[in-house]
Amino acid sequence: MLIECPANVRLQNYLLSQDIHLATSCGGRGNCAKCAVKIIKGTVTIQTMDRIWFTREQLEEGYRLGCQVFTKEPTIVEIPDN
Ligand code: FES
Repeated sequence: MLIECPANVRLQNYLLSQDIHLATSCGGRGNCAKCAVKIIKGTVTIQTMDRIWFTREQLEEGYRLGCQVFTKEPTIVEIPDN
C-alpha cells in the first residue's frame, strides 16, 4: 500500500497514528530489516544501517529500513502488505 507521510515525522510513529503496523521484530534498532519500505517520492537520508541491509541498487531504488525513516518533506512510501 502507498502512504503519504507528512514532513518532519518519524515514519514509524506516523504509521502507528494511522493504525498501520510495520513489522519491527528488532524493536526499531536496525537489526532485522523486517520493516523494509520503499520510498516512492521524496528524499530520505540513507542511514548507516540501511547500507548494511541494502545493496547500492536497492538504495537507489528507494529501499530503506522503515524504523529509521524520518521525513524532511511530504513523502510517499510503499509499505509491504503483510
Ligand atoms: S525494525 Fe528491525 S530493522 Fe527496522
